[in-house]
Amino acid sequence: MKRFFQNTWGWLDDRLGLSDMLGPSLKHLVPRDAKWWYVFGSATLVAFIVQVITGVALAFSYVPSSSQAYDTLKFITDEAPLGHFLRGLHYYGASAMVLMVGAHMAQTFLFGAYKYPREMNWSTGVLLLAFTLVMGFTGQLLRWDQTAAWSVVVAAEQAGRIPYIGGWLASFILGGTTIGGATLSRFFAIHVFLIPAFIFGFVFLHLWLVLRHGISDPPKPGKPVDPKTYKKEYHEELHRTGVPFWPDGAWRDMVFGTALIIGIVVLAIVFGPPPIENPPDPSILQADPRPDWYLLWYFAVLALIPPQIEGYVMILAPALIGVILFLAPILGSKGERHWSRRPWSIAVVLLSVLMIGSLWIAGAKSPWSPNFEAEPLPASVVGATSGPVARGAQVFHDRACINCHLIESLGGRRGPDLTFVSDRLTESDIIIRILNGGNNMPAFGNTLKPQEMEDLVTFLQTRRKGARPAKLAQ
Ligand code: HEC
Repeated sequence: MKRFFQNTWGWLDDRLGLSDMLGPSLKHLVPRDAKWWYVFGSATLVAFIVQVITGVALAFSYVPSSSQAYDTLKFITDEAPLGHFLRGLHYYGASAMVLMVGAHMAQTFLFGAYKYPREMNWSTGVLLLAFTLVMGFTGQLLRWDQTAAWSVVVAAEQAGRIPYIGGWLASFILGGTTIGGATLSRFFAIHVFLIPAFIFGFVFLHLWLVLRHGISDPPKPGKPVDPKTYKKEYHEELHRTGVPFWPDGAWRDMVFGTALIIGIVVLAIVFGPPPIENPPDPSILQADPRPDWYLLWYFAVLALIPPQIEGYVMILAPALIGVILFLAPILGSKGERHWSRRPWSIAVVLLSVLMIGSLWIAGAKSPWSPNFEAEPLPASVVGATSGPVARGAQVFHDRACINCHLIESLGGRRGPDLTFVSDRLTESDIIIRILNGGNNMPAFGNTLKPQEMEDLVTFLQTRRKGARPAKLAQ
């Protein structure tokens, strides 16, 4: 039996050249003290492989057409054997991939591993990060339920405000002027053909670069990178103390990768995939468009910055971050690698984590989308129970102003806080604004009755500092 396997392997290996091809990469030397810190890259690859396998399995039953996507996904979730589990795997696999990319970037950054000669390892990695995020965003729409559809509408609406290219970008995202079958086809093609092809290509390049330049040696304080001598010293050290990647280095990758898969499986079983809500219906605004957690922080940024600069921030901030990340290794390709000699690098990582973390919490809490559950304002806030002010407050609720505007912290946050609106706007400013809308404010000129408008404006005129209406009326 053993003989048989040996012969078969020998035959295959001779014809295919497997050990010639894989041998050198498995046996290549890695620094002896490259330990647990180095597992995140392979873990990202493991998560990606989980995504490819579960994604293909999902595509077996999923029909990317606007009339069937929702039903086929419901079928996968509720009826197909293991379908529920499969969707869970794909969802937590995505989360794992994002987390691992983040950890991998933080580690290579802290270790100064992006410096000479590994600049391109880093830059291809930055592109892979971008592709990963695009996968997350496009994947969400494929759920084709209310929330998914509205997130894309919000994204397109926001993209539309980018100066110069906004209109083009919005219609590129939607595949037309409104969300529909064309949007879905487009997202499907991007999600299953275009970006995966890029990811495969760049993972290949990335791994080739890892082999070409070797795994970075753990940094030592007081041992800066000098391009003139680095390669020679690296290889000398490697030949003196290095260990073969297989099995001395690889077992940690295997252990961590297996733990990651177990984690994904457990989450998929215990929590399951995100629920599918109602099918998308453009006439129902009762959705709470928020992206999956890995993009939530970015939507929070857009929600929190003043609308006047939103269009610029939206495109410039990611472009700037992208360019800085992409060029980081070229700007700092020499010098000290150890974090104790680059304390700012620790600050950068901590600040990024803190910033994304707090924005994430903000995104989870404060809706940038209208708040559809807003209750009518209580009399204590309105300051009157009858008369024009009270009627105006009622109109403020009934006409959904309150869904987008806050009054004393009640209502929605889509538009400006109107608690003290009359301190900054005159009566005619307010009327013009309500009649004409503008930016993200709908125009009410055609829908409000003259009496309603009058009451509404009377109510808003009571909204000023110091003039608490409670003391005026009654
Ligand atoms: C879909 C959300 C939405 C609804 C509904 C809405 N608004 Fe607005 N409103 C906004 C946004 C967004 C702005 C800011 C627009 C801008 O930047 O020019 C705004 C601006 C305003 C302003 C100017 C505030 C300032 O400080 O400049 C007033 C006043 C106002 N809205 C009143 C109303 C009233 C009254 C209603 C109900 C009849 C209403 N809004 C309904 C989103 C909304």
